[in-house]
Amino acid sequence: MMKVIVTGTYEEMSLTAAEAVRERVLSSPRCVLGLATGSTPLGMYAKLIEMYQRGEVSFKDIRSVNLDEYYPISPSARCSYRYYMDTNFFNHIDIDKANTHFPDAENEDSEKASTEYEKLISSLGKIELQILGIGRNGHIGFNEPGSFLYPLTHMARLSESTVRANSRFFSSPADVPRFSLTMGMKTILSASGIILLASGKEKREAVRRTLSSVIDTSCPSTLLCLHDDVTLIVTRDALE
Ligand code: GLP
Repeated sequence: MMKVIVTGTYEEMSLTAAEAVRERVLSSPRCVLGLATGSTPLGMYAKLIEMYQRGEVSFKDIRSVNLDEYYPISPSARCSYRYYMDTNFFNHIDIDKANTHFPDAENEDSEKASTEYEKLISSLGKIELQILGIGRNGHIGFNEPGSFLYPLTHMARLSESTVRANSRFFSSPADVPRFSLTMGMKTILSASGIILLASGKEKREAVRRTLSSVIDTSCPSTLLCLHDDVTLIVTRDALE
């Protein structure tokens, strides 16, 4: 059964998630963290920065792998996930950037970039804690709803609803990249522990299906019920 922690506010959800990350980092200072982007984890990153500034936690020896990246994109582009992670988290803590990893979105050979990312993740050892957000349509990473899903890192086409949802980070929907490189379902489910964050009423349907215990590729987050250690930290407004 998925563990569910219901919080009253976005602030409380962010603090609860940050505390869980802090505990993991304190008990395993060299661990591999799987990190996510999007609006939802922004509050968690802000809380972790505060904890770091108060001297409660250090990320000095932490390794990180991000779930996904737009494709193709330059890491220096303002809408890349590398840029997001640097500006919202890494630049404010003591992590060694050489230990922070993303799929290589500049590699013209997407298959090679995907295989290399899988190899890199295996070489680091197990992802101890994977942070996940959830799309309105139940996508995780960029594993979009469909009649089939991929197990490993691959190039994925963004669904029209994801392009629309993510267009708020770009000047227009036309500027949103149509493709990404994303960890696959097996990559995600191989993490030792998973924290899924959801906030806001537009996530209600995705959260409801995630908790339904019915596996359906038309809602990729439903596969999380196959994992033994998933904690959903959710604000009340994202539950029915
Ligand atoms: C993006 C990311 C996902 C993220 C999702 C939800 O498409 N690839 O990893 O979980 O959007 O984003 P938000 O938290 O902004 O709703």
